[in-house]
Amino acid sequence: PRRVMIDCDPGIDDAIALFLAYASPELEVAGVTTVAGNVGLDQVVDNALRLCDLIGGPAAATPVLRGHAGPLARVPRHPDEPVHGAYGLGGVELPAAARAAHTGHAVDWMAEQLRGAGPGEITLIATAPLTNVAALLHTHPDTRGLLREIVVMGGAAFAPGNTTPAAEFNFHADPEAARYVTESGVPLRIVGLDVTRKALTPLADADALVADGAPVTTAAGQMLRHLIDRYARRHQVRACAVHDALAVAAAVRPELLEWTEAWVTVECAGEFTRGALVADVHGRTGLPPNARVATGVDAEAFRAFLMSRLRGHYGA
Ligand code: BDR
Ligand code: CA
Repeated sequence: PRRVMIDCDPGIDDAIALFLAYASPELEVAGVTTVAGNVGLDQVVDNALRLCDLIGGPAAATPVLRGHAGPLARVPRHPDEPVHGAYGLGGVELPAAARAAHTGHAVDWMAEQLRGAGPGEITLIATAPLTNVAALLHTHPDTRGLLREIVVMGGAAFAPGNTTPAAEFNFHADPEAARYVTESGVPLRIVGLDVTRKALTPLADADALVADGAPVTTAAGQMLRHLIDRYARRHQVRACAVHDALAVAAAVRPELLEWTEAWVTVECAGEFTRGALVADVHGRTGLPPNARVATGVDAEAFRAFLMSRLRGHYGA
């Protein structure tokens, strides 16, 4: 299996992403690192620990690490609206974790893992603000050549944002970090909001997961119902995007998505566009591509993939 580190801020779709990763035999999760995002750092650490315990098996033994509590260059900003519910998991109460976070900082731990493995061995899947990832590449520059690839959920290259008219949440939460990562030279895959919004999970799937009744399927279904409730109010559809799970799917089955190569960067100065992902799809800058950007997804295939993995691995 391909070794991955998952940098996340659970978050409902981060939770589903973790469920999917641990249900995928193609991946071996070396560790889960956390960063403030959907909720504050203490809460995402606690959520990650609870989720890993709930998953059980190897997940209960994978290290969970604390990362950065806010963006690198500016004042921390948490969402004004609790999209993911008060504690970040849609009000679903998971049993308290039986262990504490790994001691040590997420960023240093990632660097150690990369140095301990061979070049090109480890893929980083980032489903949160890119603060930890930028700090890794900045403080431990030797790790740039060791990473196989970074798969990022973030940005909205070809559509409006979800935090400002131009910017998606993860990139808006730490634009300087996102920019640093895009321009780092590390092989990059970007799964943006415009594509995750094409791959909706309908209420029927959330209901089917709850009906399954096993601990993980029930929790997944309940969390998805919370997200669908919110999504329905805004988008008039009884379904929701599961952004971060699509990034995991992109690591397991890149052929589920369509990709284009482009030079990309992140706007850090714009009055209305701070945090916007800019993709030079027509080569206007003349700069060589630094990322593969998702442009489409086989929504039905993703839906089937997610459901079969969740039910197959965790189902009653
Ligand atoms: C991203 O923002 C967060 O709220 C989600 O967990 C996802 O990573 C979507 O814009
Ligand atoms: Ca996330």
